[in-house]
Amino acid sequence: MRDNAAGALLDWYDGNARVLPWRIAPQARAQGQRPDPYRVWLSEIMLQQTTVAAVKGYFLHFTERWPDVHALASADDADVLAAWAGLGYYARARNLIKCAREVSENRYGVFPDNAQELQELPGIGPYTSAAIASIAFDHPDTVVDGNVERVMARLNAVETPLPEAKPQLIAHAEALTPQMRPGDYAQAVMDLGATICTPRTPACGRCPWRSICKARALGIARDLPRKSPKKKKPVRYGRIYVGLRRDGAWLLETRPPTGLLGGMLGWPGTEWCVAPDDAPPAPGEWNDLGAEVRHTFTHFHLRLSVTTALLPEDVVPERGNFVASSKFDVSDLPTLMRKVHAVAAPALNED
Ligand code: ADE
Repeated sequence: MRDNAAGALLDWYDGNARVLPWRIAPQARAQGQRPDPYRVWLSEIMLQQTTVAAVKGYFLHFTERWPDVHALASADDADVLAAWAGLGYYARARNLIKCAREVSENRYGVFPDNAQELQELPGIGPYTSAAIASIAFDHPDTVVDGNVERVMARLNAVETPLPEAKPQLIAHAEALTPQMRPGDYAQAVMDLGATICTPRTPACGRCPWRSICKARALGIARDLPRKSPKKKKPVRYGRIYVGLRRDGAWLLETRPPTGLLGGMLGWPGTEWCVAPDDAPPAPGEWNDLGAEVRHTFTHFHLRLSVTTALLPEDVVPERGNFVASSKFDVSDLPTLMRKVHAVAAPALNED
């Protein structure tokens, strides 16, 4: 049975593949329909560190607005970043634009078909290159994301905790990757992890690998993968200033191109550190709301004190630009800045 583990999983996938907007169903794939590498690339960049549920709507919006790599390459950076707002990890969006331009301008719009060349493009690392090479081009590269790690840890009863277990789990995943239908296989392992071999309550009774799963035989499936204790994240503090001019325009600022939320639109504020200096972006009567907005980044927790002001029409800001109410769309802001808006707007009678 173990010899044909991949075959058993592919049979299961033929009847249970999730319907996803970037995916070619296994039946259509068998009839020769091929995925569009642009859509595969875009979906895999969006899916880095993000769930399928969160990505679907963004993917549909992006592909409707920018249906191919040339369209995306000629878009304005600010439009792409605004469309990405809310998905998080904004370096991905900046690399997305760079990669689209590289492929459009220097490669005639054609994505490379192998993992090695794919990795030379901005924003494409080992995971994403393997995913694109297998899903878009049917190369037998092994894709290992969090779902696949969990499946491999259970199938092989790997008790070493993550992240130390990664090399072992990758070796197990590589040993199982078939030469036949590697693209469908890569997606099948991900689907198994997302729908059957789930973190807390795996549905082992319905699993195509139930008879070969070592963790199931040992009764420890739900305890794996084990995880090393995480380091506690430090807390940083900041102050953020939401200024509303009397004609309804908001005082906003485009953040510096690199760093956290780089290139994104937001409210002006202090540095995020242990003890930030107060420095309002415009003269005015600033009112500390006594409210704190909390947000967690990869390496720290942030607590922002929110300050608001109703500013006169002749105010001259020291930082940022006023955006007319007709041009302001809160969904162009990253999640942190939306949270600040949600706290500040009622205090300015603008909710
Ligand atoms: N997660 C990352 N890539 C995926 C894909 N292609 N299908 C389903 N889930 C995924």
